[in-house]
Parts: sequence; C-alpha cells; structure tokens
Amino acid sequence: MTRLWRKSLFLVSTLLPFTIFAQDNTCNFGAEGRTGFTPVLLNDHIYLTGGSETNLDIFALDLSQGLQADCPQWSLPSNVSTNSQYMPFIYGVAFPGTDGKTIYMQSGDHGSELMDKMVQYDGSTGWHSSMISGVTPTPRAAMTATLNSTGFALYYGGRAPTGVTGNGQSYVRFNDFYTFDTNTATFSWPSITYGWGKAPPRFSHSAVVIQDKLFIFGGTVYVDETTRIYADFQSVLVFDPKENKAVSMATIGDIPPSRLMFSATAAPDGKSIVVYGGLNTSSTDHFDSSSDVFVLDTCKLEWSKPDVGGDAPAPRAGHGAVTYGNYMVLLYGYTDVTDVFNTKIPTWTNAIDILDMNSWKWVRSMSHSDNPTEKKDPGCSYSFPKFPEDTSLTEGDHPLPYDPTVVSNPNKPSNSSRNKGLAIGFAILGLLLVCVAAFWYFRRQRRKARAMNPRWLPGAITSHKGGANNDYPLFVYNNMDDKSMGNNGGGFNNHQDEKKPPRLSDELFDGTRTYTANDHDQWERSLDQDPERPEDGRAMSRHMDVWERMRNLHDKRNP
Ligand SMILES: *[C@@H]1O[C@H](CO)[C@@H](O)[C@H](O)[C@H]1NC(C)=O
Ligand SMILES: *[C@@H]1O[C@H](CO)[C@@H](O)[C@H](O)[C@H]1NC(C)=O
Ligand SMILES: *[C@@H]1O[C@H](CO)[C@@H](O)[C@H](O)[C@H]1NC(C)=O
Repeated sequence: MTRLWRKSLFLVSTLLPFTIFAQDNTCNFGAEGRTGFTPVLLNDHIYLTGGSETNLDIFALDLSQGLQADCPQWSLPSNVSTNSQYMPFIYGVAFPGTDGKTIYMQSGDHGSELMDKMVQYDGSTGWHSSMISGVTPTPRAAMTATLNSTGFALYYGGRAPTGVTGNGQSYVRFNDFYTFDTNTATFSWPSITYGWGKAPPRFSHSAVVIQDKLFIFGGTVYVDETTRIYADFQSVLVFDPKENKAVSMATIGDIPPSRLMFSATAAPDGKSIVVYGGLNTSSTDHFDSSSDVFVLDTCKLEWSKPDVGGDAPAPRAGHGAVTYGNYMVLLYGYTDVTDVFNTKIPTWTNAIDILDMNSWKWVRSMSHSDNPTEKKDPGCSYSFPKFPEDTSLTEGDHPLPYDPTVVSNPNKPSNSSRNKGLAIGFAILGLLLVCVAAFWYFRRQRRKARAMNPRWLPGAITSHKGGANNDYPLFVYNNMDDKSMGNNGGGFNNHQDEKKPPRLSDELFDGTRTYTANDHDQWERSLDQDPERPEDGRAMSRHMDVWERMRNLHDKRNP
C-alpha cells in the first residue's frame, strides 16, 4: 500500500515539474528472482552477477543520475553474445578489474568448467576467458572474494561436492586464505600465521574489507560431516593480507541475534560494517527475518544497533548490498518463503531499498556521487593481539562451538578476569566496611543507651541480691526522715545501705545519700506492690516524694 502510494507520489512529483526522468526511460525493475548473486560497483553502475540457475544475463543499474528506488532503470547490454562455455551460476564470486571495465567472475554452483577457473565480463564486449597465472583453486561455491585497495581479491572459504556417499551428497569445505591479483591476473597462496590455530572451514559467510583488512563473519560450519553449526555474530575472523596473519576474535557490545543469508557492507565512516536482514538461524523452517540494522565497529569489534528513521523496508534474506557514498543499497533476495508440497518457494523481490548510513534513515532516493567508494578517516583501526610464541596452539581463550580458535576481545570493559577479580575484591572490601561500620554503630548505640539509662547498667536488673555490683551511684539526694518513706520499707533508704560502711558521698555531705542502681531496682519492685495505682494527670505520691527530696537537696546546696 505505502509502496504504491509512494510510487504514485514519486511519479507525480517528478513528472510534473521536471521531465528529465520521464524522457529518459521508463522504470525497469531488472532481473527476476535472484539470490546468491554478487553486486559489483563499477563505473557508476551496479552489475548484478550470477544468482540464477537459469539466466546468465548481467543486468546493470546506471547511477550516473542517482537512484530512485521506486523507479530503477536496470538495463541489459544490447549486444552480448555467449556460448556453451558460459552458463548461469549462483554462489560464485565477482570483482572489478583494474582497467575500469572488466569484471572478473568465478562460478560457484552450476556455471561451467571455464567459469570455475575464472572468466571476464565486459558490459560492451561480453564474456571472455582469462589468462590466469598462479595455482587456480579447485572449483568451489559459496566462498568470498573481496578486493583490497591495491587490487587484490582476498578469497576465503567455500564448499565443493566430492561425490555421493551413503549419506547423500558429500562435501569438502575450505578454510584457506588466498589472493587473486587483478593487476597481473595471478593467484597466490601465501602462508598465513594463525595465533591460536586455523579456524574451521566455513561457507556462505560474509566478508568485508575495511582499511585493507578482511573481516569475516556468519556462514555455515560443519564441525563434522553431519553436524552443522551456523556461525553467529559473537566472533569475527580477521585477515591482514599485508602481514599474512589471521585471528578469530570475540566481538563485544550489542551483538545481533544469529542470522544467515543477511547482507553486509562497508559504512562511509571508514571503520564500520553495516548488516541487514537475513534469516533467524533458530527457525529455518519458516521465513523469520527482521529489518533491524546492526553496525560492527571494526576498530574494537564492537556491535551496536543504531536507531534508524524513515520507513523500514520489508525484512529480506538472500539479498545483496552495495555501498554507494553514504548509502547502503539493498537488492533482490526474498521477503517470504512458502511451503508448496514440502518445497520451500521463496517470494522473490526486486525492490530496491536505500539506507542512509550517515543519518541512519531509510530513504527512497539518492543522488549521484563523484567518489562513491570514498571513506572518512576513522582515526582508529583494528589491531591484532600479540600472537603467542607457541605455534602449536589450536584453541583460543574464548572458544565458540563453530570456532574453537576465538580469542577474547581486549576491549571488553568488564569481563576480563583481572577486572572480575578486582570487582569481587572491591565487593568483599565494601561488605567488610559495612559490617565494621554497623558493628561500631550498634556498639555506640548500646553504649549511649547504657550511659543514659541506669537500667542498662550491668547487673542493675538481673542481680537482686544487692551485691557490690549494684552499688553504681545514680545520683545524690538529701536524706530526709526515713519514716516518711512509706510502709513497705523499700525506697531510697534501703536496709543494705545501713549495714554497710558509709560511702564517700555519705561522709562528704551531711544528710545526703547516694541513690544507687540497687536502690532503683528495689524502688521499681516496690512500685509493683504499691497499693496506689497510677492515674492520669496526677503524679503518684511515690514520685512526688522523689521530687520533694531532690528539691530539698538543691535548696540545701544553693541556699
Ligand atoms: C555485437 O556488435 C558487434 C559490433 O559492434 C557485431 O559485430 C556483433 O555481431 C554483435 N553481436 C551480436 C550477438 O549481436
Ligand atoms: C592487498 O593484498 C595483497 C595480497 O595479500 C597485499 O600484498 C597488499 O599489501 C594488500 N594491500 C594493502 C594496501 O594492504
Ligand atoms: C529466532 O527463532 C527462535 C525459534 O523460533 C525464537 O525463539 C527467537 O526468538 C528468534 N529470534 C529472533 C531474534 O527473532
């Protein structure tokens, strides 16, 4: 609906004021149902190579006037001859040559013997066989070949059928890095240094060159002939063709959920790889895709998920992506899978979607760029970890089911064992401090309470026997007539005091006595037996008595 609406809006907006687009051509949505193809950007055109088992046509999309997603103008060269040596193929590779018009192509599945070796295609003169030097790889499919800045196609992985066994078709799978120099048409097989062993073979992966290093992720790994594991986004295999070394390293950040048949392309920031679409590897029985965009910062191997504005396109898989200036251009693939008589039939799409990777927005058009492969200087780059001296290692310190050689990411902020140890140390220290503080606090509180309340004096309550322990002085009072102290014989002047030798306070002040804890204890107990019950608003005579005595003492000391 929205697409139709957009289309008509586009037509109205372009046809009315200008007629540039209309005069040229009508819209041409190009090839039907393509997957497993390689889009090649060459001379301001996107060439669609491979991706069909039945059609060898190489459609081209002219970008010299920019691109309107709702009205692409794919074209076929008017005069390209072919013969039986050139056959349709899928899951092959393609990359531009240095002459600005040749595309090198190598078939994957299907194709021909000649195309398995290497052929050339030219938009004006068609197909040619290539004069190739070096050791040509054995035929394979679902490998990747990605150009670096000096014109070397960096190859990795793939699979090839080896024949039919009892279990069906058997395959050999590859994990070699090798290169094809487009300047001299030469294959080379450098010897590679692997710090923690050689990663297991994989195919149908993605590979992107950033700052002349090759970053490989996703794809399929068979750990044995029958156990298939999809490589997820938790690790990246990095290859440096200059130093001829490779390492699998764990990624950090907002790691995308595992996918296959997604697209990946370089961002204009000069350091990032942008990933779109693909199928959920956990639910391969139906079409389970997403239009989320994920970004891998190759300096730290850190994933993030930008907030993307605009109308997100339909999720798709098995599609292709090209970087053109600030834009990621999504092409072909499928947007659904239908089960027809137990056969999965993809719902093909020829829609074009455009992601502005600068402002993170889905857009419907982009303008021509004079330098569509230009990148910013990111001010950082991926640096390899220090390789161990021991060259017999076969496992990293962060092994994953599909790649035991993965090493941990040194940029990970909290999971390094040292940081972990530190965190635990701090937690224990903090807990100890809290305990100590709590201990001191309660001790202080208890002391304070003891100091304030005579009842907390040790033994004041528990020992009624009136031992020396209970002779803590509480205050001094004026010793009035003993007889006025009530009938029960309790109270201030207890008997025990009389039997004892007089205390210091008794001698110092004539007529004064010291009220001790023992006295108080007795006073409290006698209170229980006091026939007079406390009433609201009126002090008990016993209390009045205390006040009387104290007032008297005061008058005596300060006449
Ligand atoms: C292609 O064009 C050339 C001349 O430009 C002509 O000689 C040739 O026959 C044409 N081939 C086909 C297949 O039309
Ligand atoms: C490109 O790859 C080739 C082949 O491995 C290598 O010799 C060359 O140094 C690479 N170029 C750059 C700029 O790294
Ligand atoms: C992938 O599929 C599984 C199984 O259907 C599901 O549990 C999971 O949530 C899916 N993941 C995403 C990211 O959609």
